[in-house]
Amino acid sequence: MKNFYITTAIDYANGSPHLGHAYEKVLTDVVARFRRLKGESVHFLTGLDEHGQKVQQSARKAGVEPLKFCDEQAEKFASMCRLLNISNDDYIRTSQERHKKVVRALLQKLFDKGEIYKSEYKGFYSARQEQFLQDKDRNEDGSWPEIFGEVSEITESNYFFKIGKYQEWLVDYIKTHDNFIFPRFRAKQVLEFLKEPLNDLCISRPKERLEWGIPLPFDENYVTYVWFDALVNYISAVGFGAADFESYWPADFHVIGKDILVPPHAVYWPIMLKALDIEPPKSLLVHGWWLSSGEKMSKSLGNIVNPLDLVSQFGADAFRYFLMREMNVGQDSDFSADQFLARYTSDLGNDLGNLVSRGLNMSHRYCGGFVKAQSVNEEPETSLKDAWSAVRGEILPLYEGMQFHIALDKIFAFIRAINKYAETRAPWKLAKSADPADKARLETSLAFMCEGLRLAASALAPIMPTISEKILSLLAQPKLDTFGDALNWSDRLCGAKLGAQEILFPRPQQPKA
Ligand code: MSP
Repeated sequence: MKNFYITTAIDYANGSPHLGHAYEKVLTDVVARFRRLKGESVHFLTGLDEHGQKVQQSARKAGVEPLKFCDEQAEKFASMCRLLNISNDDYIRTSQERHKKVVRALLQKLFDKGEIYKSEYKGFYSARQEQFLQDKDRNEDGSWPEIFGEVSEITESNYFFKIGKYQEWLVDYIKTHDNFIFPRFRAKQVLEFLKEPLNDLCISRPKERLEWGIPLPFDENYVTYVWFDALVNYISAVGFGAADFESYWPADFHVIGKDILVPPHAVYWPIMLKALDIEPPKSLLVHGWWLSSGEKMSKSLGNIVNPLDLVSQFGADAFRYFLMREMNVGQDSDFSADQFLARYTSDLGNDLGNLVSRGLNMSHRYCGGFVKAQSVNEEPETSLKDAWSAVRGEILPLYEGMQFHIALDKIFAFIRAINKYAETRAPWKLAKSADPADKARLETSLAFMCEGLRLAASALAPIMPTISEKILSLLAQPKLDTFGDALNWSDRLCGAKLGAQEILFPRPQQPKA
């Protein structure tokens, strides 16, 4: 059986994990969890991109071997995944032998097919930054910026991959495969880039400049260009060459940020695969960027958001909720601590948290902690059921179409509708009535609140897995493995013994004056 295979970009081992890395993992995790709940067999891969100049430099600075440096970085990134409750099935590191052997085999195959040739490369080189420069790196007056130090024109022999000859094929492929790039507007950007002739890709770096890489199998004096190496992770991790490779490949989604669409994922990668007679991935899911107070996050601006601070204070699910609620997948979004607090307090604390505590509290007070029968079916019960049936019809297509922010908006509108229903029914007033019809209304109203809560918690499972499980367990329900009929309004809670009231989203502590 073909797995639903989804990947994230592999993070550069050079930096520290930040909000952008966290978002990509959460987004991918939400899609993976959603697919599992739909009953699909999912394989979710993430990992670390370890080779290259910057990692070599950072390791040197830290006075350790590159591999040791990467081991420490891998632990930092993997621990972020654990804290965010990311359900990845595998974690690939490009320094692993299972990866390196595939990179070498593919290079050899391309070389044998005559797709790789050696030639001279002439260009401006910054010794300080240890990189070739392009005209776009120049200052307006044509000089080179300070950070590059002394720049000289050098000529170097290198290996080139003939990607130019696949240009026409690629343009046609993108034009005829609407699902290849999501959202579709990003495809225009790629086609725009492909209007200019594609230069063959330099896929080697001389060892004397860069040691920390995968040696070319056909020339030990060179290592592999880091993008060629990194992209291969998507197939090396699922055993390219092994018997069950086809149960994974082609990948259903590569989830990536907009900065690495052109040229690596939309140009190099499909061409590499085409040249190797391997199918391209089905879709690139391209997300936008998180900005911090309107600006790109950067060390020098000092506005990098550390996701782990928020997670340790508010919990992973609140953080996951915020990211999915605020970002329209594909667009950019601005992160602000005020907005985070506003969502936490109003949506999570006042709407969802309040519903949980008042539902449980009143059920304990008026019904001995049990859910009774839904015996009354009049207004406002019918309206609440209708409200759910509208949401229920939309939720799965919205998830399927990556419209998580709208799905959450609808689920939380339903949560507010339950709270409003509680206000209208006012169980605390019904409890004072001696009329037997009011007793039935009282029991029904609490059963309705619990059932509404069960449905909302089930619908939230891909985004807030821990909170969802917690609420379901308070309602004496097992954790959700598949949606099945869990999103249908039912009386399955009738007779359930409820858990004790709990505060799921405690008010944030005020900073001490
Ligand atoms: N190592 C390459 C990817 C190789 S994939 C074969 C890389 N690494 S990265 O660490 O710089 O970025 C990893 C992912 O995080 C990328 O998809 C990138 O777009 C994403 N983000 C980095 N900063 C981001 C934000 N501020 N906002 C959202 N995502 C961004 O690129």
